[in-house]
Amino acid sequence: MGVCTLRIDGTDIAVATGTTVLAAARQAGLRIPTLCQHDGISAVGACRLCVVEIEGHDRPMAACVTQATEGLQIRTNSPRLQEIRRTVVEMLFTEGNHVCAVCIANGDCELQDLAVAVGMDHSRLPYRFPQRSVDLSHPRFGLDHNRCVLCTRCVRVCDEVEGAHVWDVGWRGEHCRIIAGLDQPWGEVESCTHCGKCVQVCPTGALFPQGEP
Ligand code: FES
Repeated sequence: MGVCTLRIDGTDIAVATGTTVLAAARQAGLRIPTLCQHDGISAVGACRLCVVEIEGHDRPMAACVTQATEGLQIRTNSPRLQEIRRTVVEMLFTEGNHVCAVCIANGDCELQDLAVAVGMDHSRLPYRFPQRSVDLSHPRFGLDHNRCVLCTRCVRVCDEVEGAHVWDVGWRGEHCRIIAGLDQPWGEVESCTHCGKCVQVCPTGALFPQGEP
């Protein structure tokens, strides 16, 4: 296994070939905000919160899907990156219905933590207040589309770890949403093993355990 040396925020670090920039930064003790990334499942570079600046590239790159290579010079926290991250978080909040005060994940929510981390004390974008449904057809869990940020962690963990492939992404544009089975009520999808892995990796309150009746 080869080794490459790169510089992140002024610190030289040597990592194994094939390591992502995100993992290299973590090895250097640096925190880059993430949302769609989750250890143990594939990286898809969907949320763009982990963007970094790489010398020689005009556009910011997603650290979770960019491989560390010899000689890279990387900045993880410039004013430009801070502005991008704040805007991404504002778009996530305004695109759905994230009413923290009545959310099961309040106080244990990665979106909430990100809002704090990027300094989002209000949204500069208008709220869209979309009409979205809640699926309570499963005997143990629920899905609230209002709180889904389409990170696809549930899709990947169900596919790659549990091997059940209950979840997928359906529709397009503003109608894009997570679907169970062939866009069925979750409780009717026979391949669901009731393992709860999707609920565990959900960063918000979109997938949640139901209480005792
Ligand atoms: Fe890298 Fe989402 S964590 S794009």
